Amino acid sequence: MKMPSEAIREEILESGVISFARFMELALYCPETGYYEAEKDIVGQRGDFITSVSTGSLFGELLAFQFAEWLEELRIADCGLRIAEAGAHDGKLAADILGWLQTHRPKLFSEIEYVILEPSMRRQTWQKDLLGKFAPRVRWFSDFEDLRLKTQNSKLAGVIFSNELLDAFPVHRFGWDAKRKVWFEWGVTLDGERFVWKRFENSEFGIRNSELEAVLPDNYAIEYSPTAEKWWREAADILARGKLVTIDYGYTASEQISPARRCGTLRAYQRHHVSDDLLANPGEQDLTAHVNFSALQNAGEATGLETETLCTQPQFLTRILQKAVHGKGFSNLQPKQVRQFQTLTHPEHLGRAFRVLVQSR
Ligand SMILES: C[S@@+](CC[C@H](N)C(=O)[O-])C[C@H]1O[C@@H](n2cnc3c(N)ncnc32)[C@H](O)[C@@H]1O
Repeated sequence: MKMPSEAIREEILESGVISFARFMELALYCPETGYYEAEKDIVGQRGDFITSVSTGSLFGELLAFQFAEWLEELRIADCGLRIAEAGAHDGKLAADILGWLQTHRPKLFSEIEYVILEPSMRRQTWQKDLLGKFAPRVRWFSDFEDLRLKTQNSKLAGVIFSNELLDAFPVHRFGWDAKRKVWFEWGVTLDGERFVWKRFENSEFGIRNSELEAVLPDNYAIEYSPTAEKWWREAADILARGKLVTIDYGYTASEQISPARRCGTLRAYQRHHVSDDLLANPGEQDLTAHVNFSALQNAGEATGLETETLCTQPQFLTRILQKAVHGKGFSNLQPKQVRQFQTLTHPEHLGRAFRVLVQSR
């Protein structure tokens, strides 16, 4: 069993320099020892960072209400309906959604299949432990290809969604050389025992904006995630009818290059402390970057999806709550739920950076 730092060191010794995307992949997903593999309790107050899921069950319950509305509309068309979640981690969000549907929409609950797309056997085990009581309704696949191979309906009708999945996908890191007026890619190499940055020569960044480039400072950094765009295209391809949804922090193309983000959006998190030392202690700290929502939007639209919403998390959840308090399943919120709603929507908590993209077919 290799630790991430050993795996990274070996690859660097072989090739001299590796991309930051490969460094990030090994740090986070090295089998059994990567950051997301080794320890289940990294999310939440006692972990390294909080997510909307770890604030309490209201987030999942509001999503369940919204998903039920969407699925009820699709049910009229009478086909096997599914909710597919990726990035389920310990299964808590799935438990909140399934629990609410079971209690408040029992008929729909008995008709749907809840699919978890999970490449890691270890995380599947955590999820199976928590979701045992919903067992007949839940199925696991490693990815879209696995789902396609193992099911009769190789296309999916329903909702495909993720919360804070795409910010955890590996990113390439580019820098701006103001003197030569070119973008270059940052790679990672070794200096003795330490991992250090090293420029790749002759690497070009695909997105150009000459007006902005004229004023960008030297070493201005930006990230690019082909993995996130590929994942979105695959999700869009498999969606026959329904919604493709992601909730995450990120920006649009027009916000991508901003003087306020001179060092890019890549960050490391450990015990609720944010750090710019991205190369320190691989496997022991989370690595994450903002999602490029415009790139996802374009990837989905290229497969024929329509963009329904790209809004902030407070806008999205407030709209659901307004419908939910007049609908079945939510009456007045309990004080605990009011506090959860505030945490999910207040700009000083999770309300500022988080956005929701909904596309449909
Ligand atoms: C930041 S955590 C978010 C966990 C949870 N969704 C939440 O909001 O609390 C990201 C999760 O995505 C998982 N992940 C990364 N790549 C994935 C992939 N290709 N398919 C499914 N899950 C993946 C990670 O292992 C991790 O569990």
